Amino acid sequence: MSSRGLFIVFEGGDASGKSTQARRVAEHHDAYFTFEPGDTPLGIELRRWVLDASTEMSPVTEALLMLSDRAHHVRTVIEPTLASGRSLVSDRYFASTLAYQGFGGGVDLERLRAATDLAIGTCRPDLTILIDLSLEVANERRVFDAKDRFESADFDFHQRVRDGYLALAASYGDAWCVVDGSRTEAEVAALIDERLAALPWSRA
Ligand code: TYD
Repeated sequence: MSSRGLFIVFEGGDASGKSTQARRVAEHHDAYFTFEPGDTPLGIELRRWVLDASTEMSPVTEALLMLSDRAHHVRTVIEPTLASGRSLVSDRYFASTLAYQGFGGGVDLERLRAATDLAIGTCRPDLTILIDLSLEVANERRVFDAKDRFESADFDFHQRVRDGYLALAASYGDAWCVVDGSRTEAEVAALIDERLAALPWSRA
């Protein structure tokens, strides 16, 4: 029987470069690549509603849709993949809900944590990599044609999200690694690879 795969999560704000790095790491380690919200048939429907800026909803409603997507994602994709022995890289996971709906949207963090426990059970990442970027640099990099619900949110919201991520990183200690996203893509990749090299990939 193969042992459990490694579970790596990438977090960060818009234009942080996390999706590029997440895909690169997955390819390099032959890990399964996935993302939230929306990487299951049910998730595609939930994503469409939750990102659609023209459908008004409260941050609590957003959180519950994100958590529904996550509960289903864990049970149908993440957990079966890890249990089969294959490693998995996810572009966003539970910290996105704490950062965006909790710190950003003002949903009570303790209740969100309790709901997160219900959604994910014991399925926790081995490592979460936060690619941190100031909003000033993010705005310089950003090129949008159409804006989704969160891209259309104001500066203060995104500042709370960024600060929230940094507070989460501080509270989770070694389970998180913060990388300076203002560096070049190659430098960011090197910092990530250095941290990932310390993980027991061979157990997978
Ligand atoms: P997406 O198009 O997947 O792009 P990216 O991850 O590169 O930003 O956008 C998903 C959006 O949903 C993003 O703005 C963050 C937001 N989000 C939440 O607000 N809460 C969540 O729990 C998750 C998973 C995402």
